[in-house]
Amino acid sequence: MKVLVIGGGGREHALVWKLRESPRVEKIWCAPGNGGIAAEAECVSIDAGDVPGLLAFAEKNRPDLTVVGPELPLVNGVADAFRARNLPIVGPSQIAAQLEGSKIFSKEFLLRHKIPTAKLFGVFENPEEATAALKDLQYPLVIKADGLCAGKGVVLATNEDEARAFIDSAMRNNELGLAGRKLMLEETLAGDELSFIIVTDGEKYASLVPTRDHKRAFDGNRGPNTGGMGAYSLDELLPNSLRETITRTVVEPTLHGLAADGIRYQGFLYIGLMITSEGPKVLEFNCRLGDPETQAIMARLDCDLSEILHDLSVRRFDPTKFRWMSGASVCIVLASEGYPGKYSTGKPISGLTNLTANTGVKVLHAGTKLIGDVIATSGGRVLGVTSAAPTLDEAVANAYAAVNSIKFDGMQFRRDIGTQAGLAHTAGN
Ligand code: AMP
Ligand code: GLY
Repeated sequence: MKVLVIGGGGREHALVWKLRESPRVEKIWCAPGNGGIAAEAECVSIDAGDVPGLLAFAEKNRPDLTVVGPELPLVNGVADAFRARNLPIVGPSQIAAQLEGSKIFSKEFLLRHKIPTAKLFGVFENPEEATAALKDLQYPLVIKADGLCAGKGVVLATNEDEARAFIDSAMRNNELGLAGRKLMLEETLAGDELSFIIVTDGEKYASLVPTRDHKRAFDGNRGPNTGGMGAYSLDELLPNSLRETITRTVVEPTLHGLAADGIRYQGFLYIGLMITSEGPKVLEFNCRLGDPETQAIMARLDCDLSEILHDLSVRRFDPTKFRWMSGASVCIVLASEGYPGKYSTGKPISGLTNLTANTGVKVLHAGTKLIGDVIATSGGRVLGVTSAAPTLDEAVANAYAAVNSIKFDGMQFRRDIGTQAGLAHTAGN
């Protein structure tokens, strides 16, 4: 089997890692890939969002399976374009990807199908009306830009001034571009977050092992929101009673709702949940796997990923084929100094080669590139040190032991990933 993986982050490295373990996979391309993926697949320099470029490559090379990592190609219609040409692909259609591509589309979907979610206070297309609405609302208040903003589109405003500042930056100063033209105001939910990811053919589905990510930049759950500074997986995150509630109140109504709306959803669906005192409520949908959740999930995978995904891509999905290692896993993100704000790149990374002594540890690359024979930083999130073990404590200890031997100038990471201290919730920043 020849496989094309679209994307070039830690999530895609995790996919390549597991796809390569299959004896039936003879070739993997990754577009565009990164410095670490280059050691395990052939990187092709096509941007992940470039649908015509990806299609031309696939028509020439005829992969037996294409797996899409990030949201941008999906929102740009890559799955529709591939399917129209009989190229097997895992990923939702452009319209289905609107569940992530438009927060307003997604909220309307949730409300229409009576799926529990934060209360909607209003949708606004002009800054005067949005600002006027602020007076009557309670704080903290959540404001979301409608479109894709690479993690910058949501603010939890603790007072009216902060809310006004976000509205001004999005709607008057265009800091989020077109994605910030429409804003949505919603209720702030309190509780523990849970990343519940399923893979579905629109009817049958399998849920992947539960994960939780650490979104804030600094220890103690402080600092600005990031794409994720680490994640862990543990079955105890999802007791049976909670799984049953999520299935009954969220997953089934979501799949029925999509079908009722005439949308056949094929691919991964990430359901971001807040477990509130009133039960689980949907914070967001993503039309893809999470990053860094995928790194922790794949560390526990114990079956042939290529077989399951190929079956799905040719409408023979069998959700019972998933097998998972018991125990736990963790992914610790090593980021560039300054992330999620401005950071510099091109710093050489040392210590990557002497990690073989660490049992069960895999270093997954995100923002790296190969310059000559040196691996250097090329992004905000640089590496995800990933480990699976019988207990979470062991997984965390093994991963941090490996982190200690890796170095690059300005390396920044959280020291409390996978620990209780790392999960304390704080309102605002
Ligand atoms: P989203 O892109 O919608 O997932 O939002 C990003 C992050 O913002 C979520 O993972 C939560 O941490 C937080 N968030 C989003 N919506 C809410 C809400 N209604 N209440 C509290 N936190 C939220
Ligand atoms: N870690 C959250 C996300 O992938 O959106």
